Amino acid sequence: LVLILDYGSQYTHLITRRIRSLSVFSLCISGTSSLSAITALNPSVVILSGGPHSVHTPDSPSFPDGFLDWAQSNGVVLLGICYGLQLLVQRLGGEVRVGHTQEYGRMEIHVDKPSDLFGNDRVGSKQVVWMSHGDEAAVLPPGFQVVARSQQGAVAAIENPSRKFYGLQYHPEVTHTPEGMETLKRFLFDVCKVATEWKMEDVMEEEIKVIKETVGPDEHVICALSGGVDSTVAATLVHKAIGDRLHCVFVDNGLLRYKERERVMGTFKKDLHLPVVCVDAVDQFLSKLKGVTDPEMKRKIIGKEFICIFDAFAHELEQKLGKKPSYLVQGTLYPDVIESCPPPGSGRTHSHTIKSHHNVGGLPKDMKLKLIEPLKLLFKDEVRQLGKILNVPEGFLKRHPFPGPGLAVRVLGDVTEGDALEILRQVDEIFIQSIKDAGLYDEIWQAFAVFLPIRSVGVQGDQRTHSHVVALRAVTSQDGMTADWYYFEHKFLDDVARKICNGVRGVNRVVQDITSKPPSTIEWE
Ligand code: XMP
Repeated sequence: LVLILDYGSQYTHLITRRIRSLSVFSLCISGTSSLSAITALNPSVVILSGGPHSVHTPDSPSFPDGFLDWAQSNGVVLLGICYGLQLLVQRLGGEVRVGHTQEYGRMEIHVDKPSDLFGNDRVGSKQVVWMSHGDEAAVLPPGFQVVARSQQGAVAAIENPSRKFYGLQYHPEVTHTPEGMETLKRFLFDVCKVATEWKMEDVMEEEIKVIKETVGPDEHVICALSGGVDSTVAATLVHKAIGDRLHCVFVDNGLLRYKERERVMGTFKKDLHLPVVCVDAVDQFLSKLKGVTDPEMKRKIIGKEFICIFDAFAHELEQKLGKKPSYLVQGTLYPDVIESCPPPGSGRTHSHTIKSHHNVGGLPKDMKLKLIEPLKLLFKDEVRQLGKILNVPEGFLKRHPFPGPGLAVRVLGDVTEGDALEILRQVDEIFIQSIKDAGLYDEIWQAFAVFLPIRSVGVQGDQRTHSHVVALRAVTSQDGMTADWYYFEHKFLDDVARKICNGVRGVNRVVQDITSKPPSTIEWE
């Protein structure tokens, strides 16, 4: 295991992912974890991440006392990156100073000496790296030597080969350091001699084994399927482990996309053979939403109805089985559970946070279900890989995200007004299908249409019309936290607008949303 101690760098997750991409298992925990938490994981390599702190700030985060002795006596290799390097230097008795010149962005470094990190044949070579630091190592601890320096002469890489402690002042994990992956590979395979053993097939087998051991032979498990990738892959995995003691529910709340119910139920049943019940709750949701225009109120109502339906599903199951289900499956992912050390003043806490899943909206209070979260060590792209092995259709795995409250946040105002939902479904389908036909679906993070609560004047077939206006939204993003609006070619937009106005009765105007996030959000409500 390669353990990452997180000191709050925005790149910490990336280190974990890069290492996993080399088929080496890697986990990330808070950089201030206790010694027992670290040693319990029995890592052979520990990487100290970068972070926004200075080692001189009071209360700047650090590893626990006894950590360095434990590492040395157990032959654990250490690599400090950026702040991690400075922490190593300081805790080993060296000196870290505020740099003469701060180094941010692309820099050139020069390899001065034969070294473990770069290899003996790289002496005299230069490479471009990504730096982001204000402090610098001024005096090295005993036994360390500088093996590379920046153009300004600042320390760029240090090593103590006899203790097997290493440090890089720059970020090898980012793509702006073109030779960074080479350096990481050399470090892992030549210096640390780690084995490649992280394969998705093994992850699947291991997860199945754990689920089988966790869920007793007469215990039952429930799962709410949203139609999204995470809950589907999680349920498929659990189903492989315990068969039909898994009971899934899919709720048609009347706020789904065009033919969504038929499409996802088809995938669940025909492709994945999941035991799933579809609850038709269209009237229940829409009657509660009638006349409601406040976006937050809509979300609250929808969340509450989900819990009611889920509650009823679990109670019905209890009647049928003669016992309560014991577990609930959730598709929680690794980024949601990683403990991280937040930048000072960011308002984030050190605590372990698990994002509550909007689609289930919370757990029924009296049910006391234990959680099964089989994806909680995986990143989104790894979930897709796992889904592929589990035979989840490829098209399904690449679906754009869809919000829990569904089309309710895409019909502005009262969702039950007139034909708003039906019009939106048709417009959205034309837009998405056009994107797919143009081969653009996979490069867009999310695309959808929005129904606006206004009418405008138009002329169709020589007749004056006073009809609806719809907006098209398409964005690119890495994680949904920030987003850029997507540039379509004019011809594409022209075709789509034409198809919409000709194909959907009641629409005479199409506009495109050209705002990024921030200042907008991806959804309109
Ligand atoms: P915003 O609109 O906040 O959306 O920029 C960011 C991402 O989150 C999705 N989203 C939701 N997903 N339940 C969900 O499961 C919700 O209530 C919800 N609200 C927004 C949104 O579609 C985008 O991908």
